[in-house]
Amino acid sequence: LKEIACEKDMKGLRVLVTAGPTMEAMDPVRYITNHSTGKMGYAIARNCMLRGADVTLVTGQTSIEKPRFVNIVPIESAREMFEEVTGRAPEQDIIIKAAAVADYRPQTVSVEKVKKSGDHMTLELEKTDDILKYLGEHKKEGQFLCGFSMETEHMLENSRAKLKKKNLDMIVANNLKQAGAGFGTDTNVITMITPEEEISLDLMSKEEAAGKILDEILKLRG
Ligand code: CTP
Ligand code: CA
Repeated sequence: LKEIACEKDMKGLRVLVTAGPTMEAMDPVRYITNHSTGKMGYAIARNCMLRGADVTLVTGQTSIEKPRFVNIVPIESAREMFEEVTGRAPEQDIIIKAAAVADYRPQTVSVEKVKKSGDHMTLELEKTDDILKYLGEHKKEGQFLCGFSMETEHMLENSRAKLKKKNLDMIVANNLKQAGAGFGTDTNVITMITPEEEISLDLMSKEEAAGKILDEILKLRG
C-alpha cells in the first residue's frame, strides 16, 4: 500500500523503457543472446507506473514477473526492438534504454537446422543497428534520453564517450566486475553520468536504484 500511495510526480508523462536481452537466431533451434535478466529495466518501468506515468515496456524474453499496468511489447531480436522502439519514440517524453541489445547477429539465418560437420565451425556475424544512437539522432524537442552502459574496464571514460556519441541526456553506468552489480543480481552499483556531472551511488537494490534514476531525470527535466 505504501508503494501505491507514493507521490504521483510522473503523472501525464509518457515513458518508454526497454529491458532484457535480445535473441539473434542462427537457425530454427539456436540463437545468440546474453545474460541480461531484465531486472533493472523492469524495476524502472514499475517505478514509473507507480509514480503515475503512462509506461510502455519493450522487452526481450525474461523469466521475471511482468510489471502490472504497463503496456508490454515483447520482442526477440535487435531488429524487432528497433522497429517497436523507433515507431513509438516520437510520442515519448522520456526513453530509458536498459536492454542488452546484441551488437552483432548471424549474417544468414538458416531455414533448416544446421547439421554438424568437421571439427570447427565459423559463424559470420553482421552488425545490428544501434537503436539508442538512432534515438539520439531523432530526439524530439524536450525529450529525455537515458542509456545504460555496462563495462568491465574504463567505465567512466567509455560511458562518457557513449553519452556524447549517442546524444544522450544521461547514461547509467555499471561495472560488471564490481560485487553486487550487473546481470542477474537484485542489487546494483551505478554511476549516473550527464553532460554536467557524475553521481556515484552505493550498493542498493535495483528497485531503489530505479527510484534514484527517476528522481534525477525529473530534476534534470525541471
Ligand atoms: N544499444 C542499442 N542498440 C544497440 C546496442 C546498444 O540501443 N545495437 C544501447 C543499449 O540499450 C544501452 C546503450 O546502447 O542503453 C549502451 O550499450 P553498451 O552495450 O554498453 O554500449 P555499445 O554502444 O553497444 O558499445 P560496446 O558494447 O562496444 O561497449
Ligand atoms: Ca554493446
